[in-house]
Amino acid sequence: MNNTASWTARLLRADRRSSPARCQVHGTPVRHQRAFHAGPTRWSAPTSSAVKAPRAARGWTRIGPTRVARVGIAVVAVGLAYGLVASAPPVLAESPEELPPNQRLIRLDEIHEHNRTADTYWVFRGDKVYDITDWVPNHPGGEVILRAAGGSLEPYWNIFTIHQKQEVYDVLEQYFIARIDPRDLVDGKAPTGQVEDPFKNDPIRDSALIQHSERPCNSETPESELRSYITPTEKFYVRNHLWVPDLHEADSHRLTIELFDGEEVVYTVADLRKKFKEYSITATLQCSGNRRSHMTQASRPTVGLQWGVGAIGTATWSGVRLRDVLADAGLDLQEPDEDIKHLKFVGAEAYGASIPIDKAIDRHGDVLLAFSMNGQPLPRDHGFPLRVLVPGHVAARSVKWLSKIVISDEESTSQWQRRDYKCFGPNVRASHPDWDSAPAIQETPVQSAITSVRRVQADKLLDSALARVLQ
Ligand code: MTE
Repeated sequence: MNNTASWTARLLRADRRSSPARCQVHGTPVRHQRAFHAGPTRWSAPTSSAVKAPRAARGWTRIGPTRVARVGIAVVAVGLAYGLVASAPPVLAESPEELPPNQRLIRLDEIHEHNRTADTYWVFRGDKVYDITDWVPNHPGGEVILRAAGGSLEPYWNIFTIHQKQEVYDVLEQYFIARIDPRDLVDGKAPTGQVEDPFKNDPIRDSALIQHSERPCNSETPESELRSYITPTEKFYVRNHLWVPDLHEADSHRLTIELFDGEEVVYTVADLRKKFKEYSITATLQCSGNRRSHMTQASRPTVGLQWGVGAIGTATWSGVRLRDVLADAGLDLQEPDEDIKHLKFVGAEAYGASIPIDKAIDRHGDVLLAFSMNGQPLPRDHGFPLRVLVPGHVAARSVKWLSKIVISDEESTSQWQRRDYKCFGPNVRASHPDWDSAPAIQETPVQSAITSVRRVQADKLLDSALARVLQ
């Protein structure tokens, strides 16, 4: 599927999903049930097949037997009372589908039930409740969104401030299902609670690094450390989009490879070490934003971290060849299925990116699944215990904390593949780029920069050849 097509498909799904949920309201407190039939909604318990329907087709769910029984009793009770008083046959209440979502009310307790362990995921923001179940597979940050399921989005959005923009609010609004019952509100808002700080176990960094942001850590190598060909490991720039995942056991760390037919093959790092020949490659990693501050100075303000010259570094990386592992997992390197176009990488914290399949299986392939850097185990900031290293490509594709590889017909759907790391001409205003019109950056030339100038007297130069040039 090409980019545009797959994004269009997703948007269409989102649009379909945005049609007002047909919901039942019963009793006090008000409760909801989703229905997915097209005709007028009746007050009826979903059939068992409804409850088991696939997520995409599922409507309001989780009407357990107790709740169904409660509903039944309520219907009978109301019917009997009505029959006695008015001598009329009991009437099934019509679905209040005419009730727009902003008139439906949900208690906080019920929202909490829709946490990451549930079948359907609800979140709230302010006093509005959203059922994000169908959005989860489309979330650019992956399943990390489930941290918020059953509670408030706000503490997370205060950490991941990238969400605080109209575009994101608009997407969320499509999943609006109800408001929080005012009895659970304090000053018009539901208590957001504390969230566990995902950055709390980030490593301590070298104080010489020039820090652009702390959470997530984005720090560049000082110019003075770029003079040596191999960048000292502890001074190597760090570019993290999220937190450093808590991975402490190298050997047991699992890498899942999803083949094109969906079959999965799992290797531990110990398996990789045992089964495949180890290679070392000296390669430079460069962030695509390297020297962005100079673009700002020379042209006009640019969006993103204002890196100087130090979002670049060279190291000797050791590990096993990706193509060897793919072949072992079952990919036919000679004649791969012609629909296979990309290899997606997923990091343990949720970051994702992809590279063209040809790069991954190149006969002279230099793509590594690396477990060491400059002769030592990868430091936590640089991907411990496993990262992919894609020499010659922008460093954004060298996914750290590698946990999954997917052989696919499409690029990674992550934000970092589709909505970032693309290049536009100076005519394009950064606020509204047409992301789908530009390819994801892959191969990039490395930049060079003069990091310092020293005055020397020609007659004091030891290198006579250079002295002659300067005379
Ligand atoms: N991999 C994961 N899992 N998470 C990330 O945030 N950042 C990418 C890439 N791989 C990233 C990642 C980007 S944008 C860059 S430039 C490089 O890692 C930086 O690698 P380094 O921090 O080891 O220098």
